[in-house]
Amino acid sequence: MRISVSKAIDLLLQGQVVALPTETVYGLAACMAQPKAVSCIYSLKNRPSDNPLIIHVSCLDQLHEIAEKIPDSCQALIEHFWPGPLTFILPAKKESVPEIVRANLPNIAVRMPNHPLMVEILNHTGPLVAPSANLSGKPSSTSPEHVEEDFGKDFPVVDGGVSSKGVESTILFVEGERWSIARLGAISPEELAAVLGYKPTIKSKDSSSPICPGQHYKHYSPQAKLFMLSSYEGHPPIVMGFKERQYPNAQKVFYLSSLENPQEALHHLYHLLRDLDHQNIKEIWVDFDFPREGLFLTLAERLQRAANLGM
Ligand code: TXA
Ligand code: MG
Repeated sequence: MRISVSKAIDLLLQGQVVALPTETVYGLAACMAQPKAVSCIYSLKNRPSDNPLIIHVSCLDQLHEIAEKIPDSCQALIEHFWPGPLTFILPAKKESVPEIVRANLPNIAVRMPNHPLMVEILNHTGPLVAPSANLSGKPSSTSPEHVEEDFGKDFPVVDGGVSSKGVESTILFVEGERWSIARLGAISPEELAAVLGYKPTIKSKDSSSPICPGQHYKHYSPQAKLFMLSSYEGHPPIVMGFKERQYPNAQKVFYLSSLENPQEALHHLYHLLRDLDHQNIKEIWVDFDFPREGLFLTLAERLQRAANLGM
């Protein structure tokens, strides 16, 4: 059910959960300070209780309300990337952030989203928690239709159009003065390096003890089975690939984007993964022969998780 911004604000302040647009993916939102509403998010999504939620803020005052300490090295990143798809893991002001939001961890994950409707709502409600608006394990939602597919036609959603990035925020954490990537996302390691002066280490691959508990779990998976092909051998009937490549004898090709444009591939990815199920496709061969740099790193990681291969 599509609802207005003012209705969303009313429902959130009353302790209800609503789906909201962000520039990355749609979020399933509740007021951070209302633990009952937050617990509804876990049950609606069927999300394990040890997987904490990202807190969204619309101004630095809201950040200071919930973060105990903001390292000096955070300033340049905030100035450059906020509002936008960059999430920081920071020490929590424990008295301000309910345990259920942090899954009892001493830290919060926080970002300032860049979608006008989300910002307007945050200005009225204060900090909101919002995990991606999908059932746990499914591809994230990048449109109101995806939200309705997972939570039903009557579920309240603010229609903010198709998410422009189409993939979740990049999550950073700091050790000493050095930032590392806990989850690859919409901002590439190279873009971060241009601000930091060094390339952050990618630690999302370390699946034995991930910084983000969510990295343990199955993610982004359609019903269809995905097979990664590093070269186009044989003639698989259904292929996910790139516009400038030839896939001789394929009966059907799902195009991610041009090889020049990994941002466009990410923009399409979750929609395509959901489309495979709509079209009742059981198996698809993915053209995995693309560069391992920039946003292609995020694409490779999401595809591997969708194929349930881990990292
Ligand atoms: O772009 C995004 O980040 C989207 C939009 C809606 O903002 N949100 C999103 O939330 O992707 P979610 O719940 O699907 O993923 C959040 C990730 C999980 O892997 C979780 O474990 C991690 O962030 N996380 C949240 N709070 C954390 C904390 N306090 N410490 C470590 N990891 C945390
Ligand atoms: Mg998610």
